[in-house]
Amino acid sequence: MRIYCSENYETMSRVAANIISAQIIFKPNCVLGLATGSTPIGAYKQLVKWQKKGDLSFTQVRSVNLDEYVGLSPEHSQSYRYFMNENLFKQVNINIENTNVPNGMAENPEEECSRYNSLIEELGGIDLQLLGIGHNGHIGFNEPEAAFNLNTHVVKLSETTIEANSRFFDNDISKVPTHAITMGIKSIMHARKILVVASGADKSDILVKTFMGSVMPEVPASILQMHPDVTLVGDKAALSGLINAGAKITL
Ligand code: F6R
Repeated sequence: MRIYCSENYETMSRVAANIISAQIIFKPNCVLGLATGSTPIGAYKQLVKWQKKGDLSFTQVRSVNLDEYVGLSPEHSQSYRYFMNENLFKQVNINIENTNVPNGMAENPEEECSRYNSLIEELGGIDLQLLGIGHNGHIGFNEPEAAFNLNTHVVKLSETTIEANSRFFDNDISKVPTHAITMGIKSIMHARKILVVASGADKSDILVKTFMGSVMPEVPASILQMHPDVTLVGDKAALSGLINAGAKITL
């Protein structure tokens, strides 16, 4: 595992964007596994800048996103498809037909999961999977106690997640989706390379548990210790716990 430590969020985002960019340059038709959330936004902004400058091209890139809420349409401002369109896809020269997010509006979410699993296989698997990490060690919507052996599946959101998310839905709990479709830990672990991004002191403890603690379903991201090609890119604040605990910083 490699750990890259940056001074702050901006420099961390540039490092992450450099790694994604290198993947695209080495394999122009690569399959990128993408994530939403606040952490990757800076990296996406950087990629947009480089593409506009002509340093990078997404014309052949294919993408698969980690997750989506059940019941939210691509036009809904809180859907992950909307997030990806706004923060990346609409701003770069990617062919939108080559971008994939689980369909939250599918009549049968279980069938949608099977379709998504087959799609990832047909694309030849994921070359580089980008991940953010939750405070409880979740990756995608794989919350603590999630089974390690699942591909894309439907999850029921916990009461605390629903409550926390209500701020994005007019503070109205009844508007918050109760289920989501997520790639499972197995799908994530099958990616050839994994890039984890983390920023802020509030991520410090969970990064120690994830990368220096026991591998266990209580900390879903801890399974990443078993992956042969993981790069963690974080800012100083996020990595402070790992540094204090003696983790070897690559750069
Ligand atoms: C995003 C996702 C989530 C986030 C995680 C961290 O598609 O599946 O697991 O990566 O919640 O979110 P941020 O980056 O907002 O801290």
